[in-house]
Amino acid sequence: MVPRTFGCPTIAFRPIQPSDLEILERIHGDVFPIRYEPEFFQNVVHRRDILSWAAVDQSRSDGKCNELIGFVTARVVPARESEILDLLSYGSLRTDQSLIYILTLGVVESYRNLGVASSLIRHVIKYASTMPTCIAVYLHVISYNIPAICLYEKMSFKCVRKLPGFYLINGQHYDSYLFVHFINGIRSPCSLLELVKAVASHVRSAFNLLISVLWNNDEEVARWSRWKESSPGPARFNQNKKIRTAEATAYERV
Ligand SMILES: CC(C)(COP(=O)(O)OP(=O)(O)OC[C@H]1O[C@@H](n2cnc3c(N)ncnc32)[C@H](O)[C@@H]1OP(=O)(O)O)[C@@H](O)C(=O)NCCC(=O)NCCS
Repeated sequence: MVPRTFGCPTIAFRPIQPSDLEILERIHGDVFPIRYEPEFFQNVVHRRDILSWAAVDQSRSDGKCNELIGFVTARVVPARESEILDLLSYGSLRTDQSLIYILTLGVVESYRNLGVASSLIRHVIKYASTMPTCIAVYLHVISYNIPAICLYEKMSFKCVRKLPGFYLINGQHYDSYLFVHFINGIRSPCSLLELVKAVASHVRSAFNLLISVLWNNDEEVARWSRWKESSPGPARFNQNKKIRTAEATAYERV
């Protein structure tokens, strides 16, 4: 376990470098239930198609103020080859558009809940925002990882998909959620969905209002008919009431 400086540490961020190899492998082994290939770590430290940010505690007094206490690794993926292509095709997708896929993110236990992971994600989003072709940052998270899910929601990622049995860990399958953070003015299909829901809700309220106005008018007419005539007004009124109730119930279920 990495000891933490007493008080508020001074966290700095930098790219991961070859000298981080050993600690990078160790932290991945400590924080993930999945084992990564040695080749993955080589690609990270040598920056072969992998973006990375390391968090270090500059206020450490044990001489390890350049040692990783957190990291994020990511890859640029062409949008057309990504698994969320169906979510992006509602607009006119250009061939050069890309996404950033977060591969791994972790913070050593003694440095958690200090905002380190939030800062690492902000670095990824900021970098993505500087790429004119990048339209989103996305990632998978195992369904039981509540801290990570809360973190992504807090960072305005939207859960767009549930992937049953996505992870295979020690012979057992686990579900995964796919979270996306849209950038560079791209609007998520979730917000479009929310818009449709909002419009539907307004239409529904207006419809209910109309029904209640008509209903009150009918009641007035029925009362008037009952008072004026002995039959058949009320029978017709009851029949109408039944139809309206059935309609309203069906509408509620939609
Ligand atoms: C998930 C993880 C990266 C969070 O790192 P962190 O530096 O502690 O996160 P932050 O301090 O930036 O927390 C930001 C938000 O995340 C959420 N969060 C973090 N830890 C949480 C916890 N234990 N329970 C619930 N929410 C939590 C909160 O919303 C928090 O915001 P708040 O402080 O305003 O409440 C860290 O717990 C970790 O390394 N876990 C093991 C590896 C892992 O699961 N990686 C993600 C794989 S997808």
